[in-house]
Amino acid sequence: MAVERTLSIIKPDATRRNLTGKIIAKFEDAGLKVVASRRMRLSQADAEAFYGVHKERPFFKDLVSFMVSGPVVVQVLEGEGAIQKNRDVMGATNPANAAAGTIRKEFAESIEANSVHGSDAPETAANEIKFFFRDLDIVG
Ligand code: CMP
Repeated sequence: MAVERTLSIIKPDATRRNLTGKIIAKFEDAGLKVVASRRMRLSQADAEAFYGVHKERPFFKDLVSFMVSGPVVVQVLEGEGAIQKNRDVMGATNPANAAAGTIRKEFAESIEANSVHGSDAPETAANEIKFFFRDLDIVG
């Protein structure tokens, strides 16, 4: 399988509870390597642009408010089949449906405050990585 890169966001519910280290350990234990990382506060415009694909969804406004409510940690994860591997480690969007041992099963508070975001496909991963990082910021 090819080495890929994917974009991960540790969300405000997780930074608020000081869970970043525990979440990063899950990525590393699965064989994913953090090749870029930044703790930041998203602006309203950042959050609206990043989640633009969801702008017609009923949860969009609340999602944006939640994502600007505290710090996030944006990261590039690298590894064999990293996009699917990250999705497997995160678990289902709704923690009620997430498998045992996944990040969302262990840490998520709700379908919205679900602790992590991860890119869902190669094209999305490329675009989401570009949204936050320059090539120079990514060191494999
Ligand atoms: P994420 O993987 O970041 O992608 C979109 C986000 O919208 C999702 O995780 C959740 O945080 C949030 N969300 C809130 N309600 C829903 C819903 N009903 N379905 C999907 N995503 C939702």
